[in-house]
Amino acid sequence: ELRDDTIIIVFGASGDLAKKKTFPALFGLYRDGFLPNGVKIVGYARTKMDEAEFHKRSTSYIKDPDQSQAPKIEEFKKLSSYVSGGYEDSASFENLEKHLKSIESAYQSKVTNRVFYLALPPSVFLPVAENLKKHNYASGVNRIIVEKPFGKDLDSSRELLGALKQHWTEDETYRIDHYLGKEMVKNILILRFANVAFSAAWDNRSISNVQITFKEPFGTEGRGGYFDEFGIIRDILQNHLLQVLSVLTMEQPVSFAAEDVRDEKVKVLRSITPIAREDTLLGQYVSANGKPGYLDDDTVPPNSSCPTFAATTLWIHNPRWEGVPFILKAGKAMNEAKVEVRIQFKDVPPGLFGNISRNELVIRIQPSESVYLKMNAKVPGLYTRALPIEMDLTYKRRFSDSKIPEAYEALILDALKGDHSNFVRHDELDVAWKIFTPILHWIDGKEGPPPRPVPYPYGSRGPKELDAFVNKFHFTRSSTEYSWPITNVA
Ligand code: BG6
Repeated sequence: ELRDDTIIIVFGASGDLAKKKTFPALFGLYRDGFLPNGVKIVGYARTKMDEAEFHKRSTSYIKDPDQSQAPKIEEFKKLSSYVSGGYEDSASFENLEKHLKSIESAYQSKVTNRVFYLALPPSVFLPVAENLKKHNYASGVNRIIVEKPFGKDLDSSRELLGALKQHWTEDETYRIDHYLGKEMVKNILILRFANVAFSAAWDNRSISNVQITFKEPFGTEGRGGYFDEFGIIRDILQNHLLQVLSVLTMEQPVSFAAEDVRDEKVKVLRSITPIAREDTLLGQYVSANGKPGYLDDDTVPPNSSCPTFAATTLWIHNPRWEGVPFILKAGKAMNEAKVEVRIQFKDVPPGLFGNISRNELVIRIQPSESVYLKMNAKVPGLYTRALPIEMDLTYKRRFSDSKIPEAYEALILDALKGDHSNFVRHDELDVAWKIFTPILHWIDGKEGPPPRPVPYPYGSRGPKELDAFVNKFHFTRSSTEYSWPITNVA
């Protein structure tokens, strides 16, 4: 599947994404022996720098506290080179082409294999895609990897994707949503379809409500200029959390083949109605505990009403999910770093028990991957009392010998193999935008004055209105008490 003699060309090689994610992931794959034989990596950016400087930068985020990787890092540097050039002029791409040809002239294989990774801001996305097609599209295999933002709403996304499609086919295009590369997100398919016990309970007869939560403990800190144009919904909900939702709720695919999986994802997404304003809670963090508020960030326009927190409830109109609220919520500058899915089951029918906790299945995506089921059990002893306990699959304990790959490692390897399963298909993106575009236009002030997000303190659990919001959608917080007196005991 992997083809030897591959060149991976990273555009935006001096930028943040490349430095923090792309190069460390390429290194991880190289170190563990997953890159094809004869692979070469070419960095490309506008910045003029010599190879030594490029090597320094591109390896600066590789984690190597005890220097044990130093020899591998040196090898990695030897297979990487750098070309500087513009993003819009033909001459630069012709120059790049000379460089690629000189690498390929030393290859055994006469079939070229080029993977172009665009770690670029949206403004230069199109000219690069176009220039690549014109000047660097070789006779063999050519692939292009791209990453959000894919537009700002349904129309702009269609425009961008349409323009891209003039140069690159769907088959050649790999749209990254890095959440699809996360180990625990991939595990959802196995949990659901390889376990009769779960799949039997996976519907509106058993499930009361579902929350998919993203929390980050830091604010926009200097990235406010970018963030303010997009907001938390475009940054997290419309892509990462919606992708998790789709694998959590789709019907069983015919096979694990990319198109079978993506067909099912599109189907379930099409059953979701656009989000209603009343199913939305927007927040913006304010200064607390010596930490700056969102509006204190110099790169943020004064008085911006951009949400840094959002909770939205989605409804899936099909027989399996009718009536189950799916709450997607995400926030910056919160009390902790955590991403999880929390499936709350319905109450047991009244009768035997008075006040007993609901079952919850929690899939913790990060940090410390785990799956646990909150359930009730009898306290051992000569009396009858139920206690909420946890059946706990914590990866660090159960899979203590396994290394969990980085999302970008998994995805880059998939792209090298030509496997589209964990990339976002064109129609998937289209329907994702349909769900969010109406509230985004409202928030952007396109339909009158924009809604004012409610404040929440930096480092808190979010707006104080959040508890009432999730309660409205049937969520019941289980008592923190660990003892459950049973009424009606015969
Ligand atoms: C990115 C967002 O897509 O995902 C960032 O633009 C966010 O704002 C990041 O911090 C979170 O990714 P992860 O893998 O750290 O959960």
